[in-house]
Amino acid sequence: MIKSLEINERLEKYISDHSYDLHPIQKEILNHNKNLGDVKKMQISVTQAYFFQFFIKTNNIKNILEIGTFTGYSALSMGLAIPKDGNIVCLDINKETSLVAKNFFKKANLDKKMKIILGPAINTLEKLKDDKKMFDMIFIDADKEKYKNYYDLSLELVKKNGFILIDNVLWHGDVADLNKNDRLTNTIREFNSFIKKDDRVEKTILPLGDGVTICRKI
Ligand SMILES: C[S@@+](CC[C@H](N)C(=O)[O-])C[C@H]1O[C@@H](n2cnc3c(N)ncnc32)[C@H](O)[C@@H]1O
Repeated sequence: MIKSLEINERLEKYISDHSYDLHPIQKEILNHNKNLGDVKKMQISVTQAYFFQFFIKTNNIKNILEIGTFTGYSALSMGLAIPKDGNIVCLDINKETSLVAKNFFKKANLDKKMKIILGPAINTLEKLKDDKKMFDMIFIDADKEKYKNYYDLSLELVKKNGFILIDNVLWHGDVADLNKNDRLTNTIREFNSFIKKDDRVEKTILPLGDGVTICRKI
């Protein structure tokens, strides 16, 4: 019996063909990112985006905070799934990619729902906390060294029973490879161990894309 599948491009295309139809601007962002070479690896996978959309719709999620937006694929995918009166606050430090994302949001007529705040995410999260902002869902996908800080602040910014999703928690599989002991792999290992012990949340790790942890604040 097959225990798990390797999701190669052929299988990802099959999943795509049997899921929500990709929005034309989602396709444009994917094409844009493809031409960026290796950097395209930054973006979440198509399968992850389908799952996020399903998750948002089935949990009546309206207000989302994204930490790490890049050229906008994950944010736009989520923006397509929230209701008319929903909104997404996107945090990123990179001016150039944020402008690209902003233009894609506009092209998809989603610009009224999406706001990008430029700057180091920790500062913006502190400010959102001071302003007493609260979100139904937070997606963490920025610099991995600060995942623990982002998680701690997210727990204060997410509503009770709200969700925190964290990307790259399986780190290309390296977290389970005892021969891998570089700084980032160890940082993600420590982060995963911390979440395991955190009884403020229900949680599970899904082997989607590069691994996604889903937490629900109790
Ligand atoms: C993995 S990419 C995000 C990918 C995006 N979620 C998507 O699916 O297309 C990580 C992003 O985090 C941003 N970033 C890195 N360090 C940051 C920081 N200290 N504060 C805010 N954003 C940061 C980078 O500029 C980059 O765009």
